[in-house]
Amino acid sequence: MKQRQLIRVAWFAPLLAVTIGDCDKKADAEKAQASVMAAPASAVPVAATAASDPAATRDAEDRDRIARGKYLVTVGGCHDCHTPKTGMGPRGPELDKSRLLSGHRADEKVARAPKSEGSWMVSATSSLTAWSGPWGTSYAANLTPDADTGLGKWTVDQFKQALRTGKHLGGPGSREIFPPMPWFNYAEMTDADLEAVFAYLRSIPPVSNAVPSPVPNVKGP
Ligand code: HEC
Repeated sequence: MKQRQLIRVAWFAPLLAVTIGDCDKKADAEKAQASVMAAPASAVPVAATAASDPAATRDAEDRDRIARGKYLVTVGGCHDCHTPKTGMGPRGPELDKSRLLSGHRADEKVARAPKSEGSWMVSATSSLTAWSGPWGTSYAANLTPDADTGLGKWTVDQFKQALRTGKHLGGPGSREIFPPMPWFNYAEMTDADLEAVFAYLRSIPPVSNAVPSPVPNVKGP
């Protein structure tokens, strides 16, 4: 809307100048010319004006940040553990695209993990969302923007702190984030990249899914 108005002014300005050029009274012409010259700030380069429109710039930046975040979530393997699966396909467990990144399904009850034998140490369910190992049992968190069961109420700083320090909810006094969440790898991301991941997670559809809390191995790892 704003841009259309600007284009109209820009198109109109030269006509005004031509009309003024034909004017008999020189003084009037000069005065009018001066006012035309004063107008160009908004009238002249339409492209430059649109680019400096703060709202348009912000929208473009948000789009870029979300696209970068989507890329990082994909190559960072977040779906492997945080997206439930529909079943086994030729390339392994297939993502349930209707529940992207919504964590271990609350309605998927899992039996006790099998006992480890020999050098076998870790078990995972077929959806790769529930894990059992020397630390106990852990369930991949809901990363969608759902306010009650996902990251909806998290701040970007909390998110960055959680991935940088390995503390649940990013809080200094809270529990450790359990394996196999490889937060220490993601801790190496730049601020801009962590912010992009958070922006992407904010942009996906919220899924209400209350993931169970981890159950620590009381005997210790
Ligand atoms: C190998 C499996 C695995 C991968 C890969 C993985 N996660 Fe996790 N993640 C988990 C598990 C399991 C939990 C739950 C841990 C717990 O409850 O302490 C978790 C928890 C989290 C939490 C919640 C932390 C908290 O404060 O409770 C966030 C945020 C998170 N993951 C983000 C990510 C992002 C972003 C990626 C990809 C860049 C990712 N995870 C990749 C398994 C994984």
